[in-house]
Amino acid sequence: MTTALHALMPRIAGRPKAIPGIPHPIPYQGSKRQLAHLIVSYFPERVERLFEPFCGSCAVSLAAAHLRRAQRFVLNDINAPLMTLWRAILDEPDELLAGYRRLWTQQLGDERTFYDRVRARFNRHQHPGDFLYLLARCVKAAIRYNSHGKFNNSPDNRRKGAHPDTMAWHVHRASELLCRRTSLSTRDYRDVLADAGPADVVYLDPPYQGVCRTHNHRYLMGVDFREFVCSLEALDSRSVPFIVSYDGRTGDKVHGRRLPDALKLTHFEVLAGRSTTETLLGRKAHTYESLYLSRSLVERAANRAPRTRERNLFGIELE
Ligand SMILES: C[S@@+](CC[C@H](N)C(=O)[O-])C[C@H]1O[C@@H](n2cnc3c(N)ncnc32)[C@H](O)[C@@H]1O
Repeated sequence: MTTALHALMPRIAGRPKAIPGIPHPIPYQGSKRQLAHLIVSYFPERVERLFEPFCGSCAVSLAAAHLRRAQRFVLNDINAPLMTLWRAILDEPDELLAGYRRLWTQQLGDERTFYDRVRARFNRHQHPGDFLYLLARCVKAAIRYNSHGKFNNSPDNRRKGAHPDTMAWHVHRASELLCRRTSLSTRDYRDVLADAGPADVVYLDPPYQGVCRTHNHRYLMGVDFREFVCSLEALDSRSVPFIVSYDGRTGDKVHGRRLPDALKLTHFEVLAGRSTTETLLGRKAHTYESLYLSRSLVERAANRAPRTRERNLFGIELE
């Protein structure tokens, strides 16, 4: 690794943490909230549009908007009810919040059956207010579907979901940060990438490969490894800078296939925390997430000198 590339490596000791002040209105398993600040720190100096074709809870876009690291946002996810919820957060936050407060208050004293009723109604009408309530209450904030495509996760009976006042802060702040400069869509990620250019940056966080290979309870659609690699090649050939989060490892066990060397990506691992599965088995192991930086991103960074010792090559303070 060259000295310039060495300066790209994260200088955060230990596990990165979410920085305060960044909203996160949608509880979401697989959210990159903890890593968002680090990921944004690798953006080019000027970013016209941030593309998130697998946006989920939009943790990276919210961090980028808060840190003023992108002008506009292109947010996409194949999960249609999720994108309808984002539409409500951006365009009708007060109406959404009034509905959330109503549900949250009505549940008190009868939380278990109330959750089941809201879930049944959501599976009929897919109303965004119901979805927000279910995500705030369900086990591990995980979107899970049965084989008929119906949301079937159970409630976490230890929690009532975020208090309506807390939710109001997250929703209003997210709306302020993203409204009037964000396009939302529900397409396959490949359709969205075609529009990205060299002045943009693309952050790709596809479902874990383990989830894609098996019957998919967690996401509405998976991602084929070879097609994904082809999409990255196409971005590279158009000099579109991109960052990929892709599986990782727990202890010595590598999850999924690494992205091929032919893509000439810069790969590093970030500590994500202690593995809960290994802890339950009485073993100690840490989980690391893989991050890959595209060639054009690294070349641009390597041409610039770091401004101070505490900042990375993109001029972003890391600590
Ligand atoms: C790991 S999650 C992304 C999490 C996100 N980075 C966050 O911080 O919340 C992967 C997302 O990809 C979406 N997805 C799965 N297959 C897709 C596809 N073919 N095209 C677009 N989105 C897809 C899922 O619905 C899911 O929200």
